[in-house]
Amino acid sequence: MGLTNVGSNNFRSEIIWAYKRWSNSKKGLLNSHQNIFFYSKTNNYKFNTLYTNYSLTTNLDQILQNRVKDSDGITVYQTDQDGNIVNNYDKKGVPLSDVWNIPYLNPKAKERNGYPTQKPILLLEQIIKIGSDEGDIVLDPFCGSGTALATAKLLKRKYIGIDISDEAINLCKERLTGNIVKTDSKLLEDGIEKYNHKSKEEQFIIDLFDCLPIQRNSGIDAIIPSEDKENVIALKFQKDNESLEECISKMNKSCKIKGIKNKIIIKNKLSQKTNSFEKDSEDIIILSSYKELLTNLIKVAKNYKK
Ligand SMILES: C[S@@+](CC[C@H](N)C(=O)[O-])C[C@H]1O[C@@H](n2cnc3c(N)ncnc32)[C@H](O)[C@@H]1O
Repeated sequence: MGLTNVGSNNFRSEIIWAYKRWSNSKKGLLNSHQNIFFYSKTNNYKFNTLYTNYSLTTNLDQILQNRVKDSDGITVYQTDQDGNIVNNYDKKGVPLSDVWNIPYLNPKAKERNGYPTQKPILLLEQIIKIGSDEGDIVLDPFCGSGTALATAKLLKRKYIGIDISDEAINLCKERLTGNIVKTDSKLLEDGIEKYNHKSKEEQFIIDLFDCLPIQRNSGIDAIIPSEDKENVIALKFQKDNESLEECISKMNKSCKIKGIKNKIIIKNKLSQKTNSFEKDSEDIIILSSYKELLTNLIKVAKNYKK
């Protein structure tokens, strides 16, 4: 077939799929992972890098500052000829590693279809997103209850499934013609919530605008990254125990250090009763709520269309 690389040469990665388990009847370490071997047919293969959020203990400096190797091969923060720190404002997060924490389907999950070896859609989602784009074909020659096929359908890929068992094929047909049920990861969310100090409303805005959440910085709660430094936007939520003046001052301080010019503050509930929309001399846009943010966005969009 003209393949120059065969066997181990086609091996790319070993992925560890790790999950929590609650019982362990045998003596020894609890078995709570499975191994996925990633192979490609040739060296020229499709690979979409997925990104995950920075660890909650990562601070703003670590996120923004570029790193380079010095003459001794030691990784240091990059500086320009005047010794100023060089920032990269277009960080997307941390590339996905080969250890995946994805919960196993619990026995009562709605996604369960009764097939004994059924895998979670969340797991197949990651695999399919990495190796294909919309419109590509996903083949699972041991498709069982059709998790790979159902996931491919959800992700707008075409799919082909093969299985020796009639029961599996019937289940697949049923699953693919009906409403595909997917269980989202409560476990992952709960784990993150433990460290995440953003309120539900703050998290909503962060998700809505695809912001990069920033932890452990009193002046910036999130940034909207951009390749062009001039377009980076910093977001701060006024805390309940913060006056608006304190809030502005903290934000100005953090943004000045980081060279971020576009600043938005969303006031807390107490301050919302005061001026609803204002633009102060320091060029911070101050909004009384995220709803106002959306309302203004719609006004801008309508003007833009005219
Ligand atoms: C681990 S299960 C797949 C489960 C699937 N990932 C899911 O989420 O439901 C493996 C499947 O391979 C099928 N199988 C085993 N030997 C086969 C063969 N020679 N040809 C086709 N399918 C086969 C089995 O019937 C079984 O459904």
